[in-house]
Amino acid sequence: MKKCLVGGAFIIVLIALGVWAIISCIPPPSKICGTPGGPPITAPRIRLSDGRYLAYEEHGVSRQNATFKIIFIHAFATFRRDAVIANRVRPGFLEKNGIYVVSYDRPGYGESDPHSRRSEKTLAHDIQQLADQLQLGSKFYVVGYSMGGQAVWGVLKYIPHRLAGATLLCPVTNSWWPSFPDSLTWELWNKQTKTERFAMLITHHTPWLLYWWNHQKLFQTSAVMQSSPTIFSPQDMALLPKLAVRVSYKNQTTQQGVHESLERDLIVGFGKWGFDPMKIENPFPKGEGSVHLWQGDDDRLVPIQLQRIIAQKLSWIKYHEIPGAGHLFPNADGVAETILKELLPIPQAS
Ligand SMILES: *[C@@H]1O[C@H](CO)[C@@H](O)[C@H](O)[C@H]1NC(C)=O
Ligand SMILES: *[C@@H]1O[C@H](CO)[C@@H](O)[C@H](O)[C@H]1NC(C)=O
Repeated sequence: MKKCLVGGAFIIVLIALGVWAIISCIPPPSKICGTPGGPPITAPRIRLSDGRYLAYEEHGVSRQNATFKIIFIHAFATFRRDAVIANRVRPGFLEKNGIYVVSYDRPGYGESDPHSRRSEKTLAHDIQQLADQLQLGSKFYVVGYSMGGQAVWGVLKYIPHRLAGATLLCPVTNSWWPSFPDSLTWELWNKQTKTERFAMLITHHTPWLLYWWNHQKLFQTSAVMQSSPTIFSPQDMALLPKLAVRVSYKNQTTQQGVHESLERDLIVGFGKWGFDPMKIENPFPKGEGSVHLWQGDDDRLVPIQLQRIIAQKLSWIKYHEIPGAGHLFPNADGVAETILKELLPIPQAS
């Protein structure tokens, strides 16, 4: 009888531990905008074919009068209000050059509904639907910053016929893309800290553990999730004061929860991709548009060595390497205008 009791107690403890383990892996549900207890809806939104809403913000000339229409795709831990190419140009620059920019919240960020099946492909189709509902016409430009590069690669792969041109700003790279030489990815891997390597393995192989990993207290979590100062270069540190204006609105970035915004970004960016970006065909074989990739040579987040391989393999990409630049370089004075002048055929750009 006693033995039986001990055995029973043991089983109960095991079950309790199991339940605790399962619960600590399950992220809390997102606080959906516009639902009771959720954040308010303040931005215009479109409804996608699967019922999700996508929030957006417009800049520059009206889309009806625009010569150039650009969809901007924001970076990690930022949202539609952080449209660097619209916010960092001189006042009047967009208007003078007939430029319209729409930035939108990627799913789970800001006021866009979460999408747990988000992928490079669904991101591309979200962009297509945004363009069509806003009546941007048969062709438009896309500019994606950092983690927003997921969506630009998706657009280049799945809807290249809709593009007038594209720009990637220090886009996220994924060491598992097959075209990267193993020797180089191993070399970079061995330079990372144990914590970063472990976080990367979880993100790639067991993404369902990522929520637990980022929220446990036993081990140190990744520098990126904590925005630790080690991710910034000297130029980035000098540009940080320019981002101080974000204080007034940045709490809206992940107001629906971090899992479907930040963690989903990592899972998509560093997960298993449906294609290899370095096998994408030139979308403009007749030179009717251009694709640009900008990268600082002092970027502490995205390894320049991998970006150089991409530029080598995709000879149709116009590669711009900026000496001394870190990950925040599009915020530096004049850079956003230069990026736009390279992408758009602006007559006598001024
Ligand atoms: C388009 O431009 C015309 C002429 O400058 C202006 O009158 C009109 O209000 C503009 N339309 C929109 C929607 O901004
Ligand atoms: C963000 O901050 C503002 C003012 O500081 C506050 O009114 C608002 O409720 C906050 N929103 C969230 C989602 O925390």
